[in-house]
Amino acid sequence: MSILEQRKKVKGWIKGCIKQGLSGQQIIARALELSPELHQAVLYELQDPAFTLRPKQEIPPLESGWYVWFLRTARNFGKNHAASAALNEMARYHFAGETGLIVAATHKDFWSTIFTGKSGLQALAPPDFQPVYSERHLEVRWPNGSRAAVRTGDNPEDIRGLTVSWAYADELIKWPKGEISWQNIQNCVREGSHPRIILTSTPLRGAEWLRKVEDLPDTIVTTGTSRENTATTEVFFRNQAAN
Ligand SMILES: Nc1ncnc2c1ncn2[C@@H]1O[C@H](COP(=O)(O)OP(=O)(O)O)[C@@H](O)[C@H]1O
Ligand SMILES: [Mg+2]
Repeated sequence: MSILEQRKKVKGWIKGCIKQGLSGQQIIARALELSPELHQAVLYELQDPAFTLRPKQEIPPLESGWYVWFLRTARNFGKNHAASAALNEMARYHFAGETGLIVAATHKDFWSTIFTGKSGLQALAPPDFQPVYSERHLEVRWPNGSRAAVRTGDNPEDIRGLTVSWAYADELIKWPKGEISWQNIQNCVREGSHPRIILTSTPLRGAEWLRKVEDLPDTIVTTGTSRENTATTEVFFRNQAAN
C-alpha cells in the first residue's frame, strides 16, 4: 500500500469515528488503543489542514485519467482551498521531485491568495511539508524537491518555453488574454506520461474557449455554490446581497 493510500485509510477511520459522534478528544483516546504508529498517524491527519476538505474539493482519482480538473463554482465555494490541497498532494506524491506551473492573474494574486492566503498553499500544507517561495527564481519549492514555476496571466508571453508535469491556473476568466494564456499553458504541460491541469473559475460569462475546455472528453467539471462551504459566514452572504 502506498503512503497516500495508508493516509486515506487513516482519514477514513477518523471520519468513521466522527460519524459515530465522537469528539476530537474521544478520537485521540480511541487512537491510543491502536499501535503506536497508527496513533501517530491519526494525530498527523487530525492536524493536516486538508483534513476538512469536502468530497467535492478532493482531487478526482488520478486513475480516472482526467487531463483537466475544472473547478467552476460560485465565489467562496472553496476553490482555492481545494486547489491548494490538490497542489500540495501532487507535489508530495503524484509528481514528487518534478516541476509544475502555477499561473495567477497577477503577481499580487499569486502572493496574497495562492501562496500566503487563508486558502493558499502554505495554509493547506502540514507543518512538515511547507512550501517556500524563491522570488529570485519565481519558483515555489516543497521540502521533497518538487517545484513549481510561477507566472502570471497579465503577461502570457512569459508562459512559454517551460516543460512541466502539471499546471494550475486560477481565475482564468479574468485574464485579459485568457485564450492565449491557456494555449501557452497547454504547450508547457508536456512532461511525463500523464500531465494534469487544474483550473479554477467563477461561472463563465461569454468565454467560448473556456466552454470548449469544459467539453473536452478528459475534463472533469466540479460545480457548486457558496452555501456548500459551511466555513462561509453569514457576513459573506449579507455582503453579497448588498452588492
Ligand atoms: N473544506 C474547508 N474547510 C475549512 N475551510 C474552508 C474549506 N473550504 C473553504 N474554506 C475556507 O472558506 C474560505 C473561502 O474559500 P476559498 O477557497 O478562498 O473560496 P473561493 O476560491 O471559491 O472563492 C477560505 O477562508 C477557505 O479557507
Ligand atoms: Mg478564489
